[in-house]
Amino acid sequence: QSILLLNGPNLNLLGTREPATYGSTTLSDVLSAAASQCAQKNISFSHLQSNHEGVLIDRIHEARGKVDAVVINPGALTHTSVALRDALLGVDIPFVEVHISNVHKREPFRHHSYLSDKAEAVICGLGVYGYEAAIEFASRSIKPRKE
Ligand code: DQA
Repeated sequence: QSILLLNGPNLNLLGTREPATYGSTTLSDVLSAAASQCAQKNISFSHLQSNHEGVLIDRIHEARGKVDAVVINPGALTHTSVALRDALLGVDIPFVEVHISNVHKREPFRHHSYLSDKAEAVICGLGVYGYEAAIEFASRSIKPRKE
């Protein structure tokens, strides 16, 4: 089984960015926890964070036929990107959408997601634990692709 974790714009600032909303855990803390979680389960793990929509889309295309599940925190692209939605649908890889904050408790423009209606699951408001929960869910319920 293999999982690709994607983080969108500004998530490189995790830990220092609006800590009241996103907490003090850094992206590198999240990544080392996710890597060991996957290692324990014998799942191959890869990750990309990018501030650029096209870079994320290229990585999704590359994952076609190689990755069983995508766990994605698209950041603000959640609320704007038809292209990211189309990329995920285009490669036909099941995905879990993660938001650290409870987007529904925040500004109205964060209430709509271009991905949620196509996601296997949507997690928000659990803080960075959402990544762990998403990986756990993906590993249990998303079937490995056929070779
Ligand atoms: C976020 C929520 C988005 O609205 C925001 O633009 C982010 C982070 C979250 O993890 O809570 O960048 O996806």
